[in-house]
Amino acid sequence: MNKPVFNPFNPVFRANPYPFYEALREQDPVHTTELGGIVLTRYEDVSSTLRSNDFSRDIEATANEPTDPLWIAKRERRKGREGAKTILNLDPPDHTRLRRLVSKAFTPTSIDRLRPRIQQLVDDVLDQAAKNGGMELVDKMAFPIPFQVISDLLAMPTDRSDELREWGQLITLSLEPTSTLEDLDRTDGALNEMIPYLFTIIEDRRAHPGDDLLSALIAVEDEGDNLGLDELISFVVLLYIAGHETTVNLIGNSINALLRFPDQLSLWHNNPSIANRAVDELLRFDGPVQQTVRVPIVPVTYQSLHGPITVQPGTIVTTLLGAGNHDPAMFADPHTLKLDRANSNRHLAFAGGIHYCLGASLAKLEAEIAVGTMVKRFPNMKAVGDITWRDRLTIRGVDHLQLEF
Ligand code: HEM
Repeated sequence: MNKPVFNPFNPVFRANPYPFYEALREQDPVHTTELGGIVLTRYEDVSSTLRSNDFSRDIEATANEPTDPLWIAKRERRKGREGAKTILNLDPPDHTRLRRLVSKAFTPTSIDRLRPRIQQLVDDVLDQAAKNGGMELVDKMAFPIPFQVISDLLAMPTDRSDELREWGQLITLSLEPTSTLEDLDRTDGALNEMIPYLFTIIEDRRAHPGDDLLSALIAVEDEGDNLGLDELISFVVLLYIAGHETTVNLIGNSINALLRFPDQLSLWHNNPSIANRAVDELLRFDGPVQQTVRVPIVPVTYQSLHGPITVQPGTIVTTLLGAGNHDPAMFADPHTLKLDRANSNRHLAFAGGIHYCLGASLAKLEAEIAVGTMVKRFPNMKAVGDITWRDRLTIRGVDHLQLEF
């Protein structure tokens, strides 16, 4: 049998990465790639790496200079990009400062206040879909609901939603390991349109503040040097994109999973109180973010199958969240969806440690209401025609799913 490799350029891998994760985990859990990076697939390795202080998330500053010509060109391109790093790419103490400024708005209690509004949005979509006898899930529900909710939080106008949706998709292209230089051009093009757009809104809001998250962040910026204008803009870009690009996939992937396991759809329909745990299991089963990276700042040792492997500072370590979430050592019978699984909340879909997803409570609430209400109202829903997927690995999700109720 061939030794398994981590090759995101293989379209079969991208279409369904789980069998590849399994082969890696079983045969080479601390895998060295052709370019000298490390790929981790065991739950314990992924989880401990994300939680460890021995790693940096500031890849541009800490990773070794690449040797591959494409990666050299990509790195140069990123260095030339305007604007501040986002919270996602910062290490302490800058990360700690920014995270403290924004975490209050995202606590489970402040997020739970959004429940009635989200329920109303979902009910309106489903009332219309009921009249039509069905709907296309992504365009009618999975995109518009999270998009409206993040727009509400920031009190952003929604008249340019089509453009914002496209910018979001182009900006996240740069997160894909398979991205080309042309893709990075597209990312830069989208940022060059989105940043001036946000700038105009921020200036207007500075003059007319309201009771919204953007006004609160501007107030922090106005108060002194705690949050710079470029940091503020980068943060809003990140919030906007993280606020809908990922949740869209949670809703899409969840309905896809429930259609594959109709007994679980019935279980939820008959036991609405399992909603919170059910969403954790759906995040575990096919999460929207499949991988992230870290760079060790001191030598770090992992146990491979044939003894210890020490990884040197500067090496790019890819943690495959989706692989950890399907590790049988942590989750028994991992390829089966079990909405009442006792330990599903140990999943890694929101990563872990200091960069643990800031929007986790919001994403979970949106999915609980959107998917839960569909399960309650349309337990016999079925897919019509082919389900298509976005051809991406870092952010994995359903692209098109026509439903009949
Ligand atoms: C199902 C939906 C979502 C998933 C699967 C998801 C996943 C993730 C993951 C894996 C990370 C950590 C990445 C890393 O450590 O390298 C992260 C960070 C982050 N997420 Fe989410 N996310 C989701 C929804 C959201 C939403 C709705 C928001 C905001 C409204 C959000 C805002 C953020 C922010 C700001 C960070 C950076 C946190 C930091 O670096 O301290 N996410 N997310």
